[in-house]
Amino acid sequence: MNKLLRRKAILTGEDQPQEHRLTPTLSWPHLVALGVGAIVGTGILTLIGVGADRAGPAVLVSFAIAGVICACAALAYAEMSTMMPASGSAYTYSYGVLGEVFAWVVGWSLILEYSLVVSTVAVGWSGYAAPLLEAWLGFPMALAQGPELGGIINLPAIFIIAVVAGLLMLGTKESATLNAALVIIKIVTLALFVAVALPHFNAANLEPFMPFGFAKSTSPDGVERGVMAAAAIIFFAFYGFDAISTAAEETKKPERDLPIGIVGSMLICTLIYMVVAAAAVGALPFTRFADSPEPLALILREIQQGGVATVVAAAAVIALPTVLLAFLYGQSRIFLVMARDGFLPAALARVSPKRGTPVRITLITALFVSLIAGFVPLDEIAALANSGTLIAFIAVSVCMLVLRRRAPDAHRPFRTPAATFVGGVAILGCIYLFLSLPVQTQIWFFVWNGFGLVVYLLYGMKRSLAGG
Ligand code: ALA
Repeated sequence: MNKLLRRKAILTGEDQPQEHRLTPTLSWPHLVALGVGAIVGTGILTLIGVGADRAGPAVLVSFAIAGVICACAALAYAEMSTMMPASGSAYTYSYGVLGEVFAWVVGWSLILEYSLVVSTVAVGWSGYAAPLLEAWLGFPMALAQGPELGGIINLPAIFIIAVVAGLLMLGTKESATLNAALVIIKIVTLALFVAVALPHFNAANLEPFMPFGFAKSTSPDGVERGVMAAAAIIFFAFYGFDAISTAAEETKKPERDLPIGIVGSMLICTLIYMVVAAAAVGALPFTRFADSPEPLALILREIQQGGVATVVAAAAVIALPTVLLAFLYGQSRIFLVMARDGFLPAALARVSPKRGTPVRITLITALFVSLIAGFVPLDEIAALANSGTLIAFIAVSVCMLVLRRRAPDAHRPFRTPAATFVGGVAILGCIYLFLSLPVQTQIWFFVWNGFGLVVYLLYGMKRSLAGG
């Protein structure tokens, strides 16, 4: 029992041996760009349709609920990441505050989150890119879809993961700068959608506002619907700011840069989403774009703006890789930190002396997420990614509240206002969102973590360096 609950003294990057140390090159504009780049993606471009299918026009309420819960979790992240500016985010905080077995569960859940987000967005990217590749180059669709959809393998999804992994291995700074340029394209594209769709706003499209009720319930077609069921899916659109905290060690002034990066990018995205969602459900009855693989483009075509629809679709293909960049970056860092702790073989943690980046881990991660993206269908992957993220958010909020009691006078460069209330909303809200996920998703989540605990008991617990 002592082993399971042992805690690790928190090391910042400066305490690490030279070959394990990352170079601090980032400041807050990089982090805001990294955050917005990670947050705005498949969620607003594609899952807005799924959300409308689950909640009707009340998907607006789902956006607001998910946004409030994420904002509270973001504040907890800001406090924790400035207190412990070391790579590893929720995993590292849990190790320092809650104990080893909790850290393992959180780390294992983060692996689920980051992997499945990369896989989901790569498959989503392929969904936009494949029709263009087919039209221009005669690319066979059988090589652009996984077996469940009647194809063989999703090669465009694997291709885009390979490109992004290559960028990351070349060095963080270069990738972050490219990321910033693509973020601007993404914001301009969403602004264009709003500018064109909003004049078509018709209040009649919002009636009935809440056709499927508030709490999750199963519709006659077997789909679980309601405002909360939609919020549990829409939640995907909001996270990504936690990827910033994984960059803590490479940040020049963590106590200033991290809160601005995390809370700032979160607020910007919430604002954008509310406006885009209002423009979408106001322009067209929700049943006409619900469950479309490209809802924003479809809405534009329906209001006779085919040209703009093509621009929006092309921009999605160009800009979605920023989400991949941020999550693949975060994934390799989580692996790196878990390997440093002895949970994974030490050779994996090596930072390339030439590049200053963890090349081996990035390669292994890219191979792993490519396999999923190449063969596994998109549906429900997003929901499963959400389950892992919710556990991480709960853990970070619990860490914040526990530390407030255990070490009330510790130095906190950023203090969450009304921490008990904010932490409580984050924890209870994330639990409610988890319960609102499809039952099948919840079962998969417990299977994944059950498997993880077996790995921990057979391997990680014995090799953990905290025990040494
Ligand atoms: N928030 C990210 C997206 O919407 C994961 O794609």
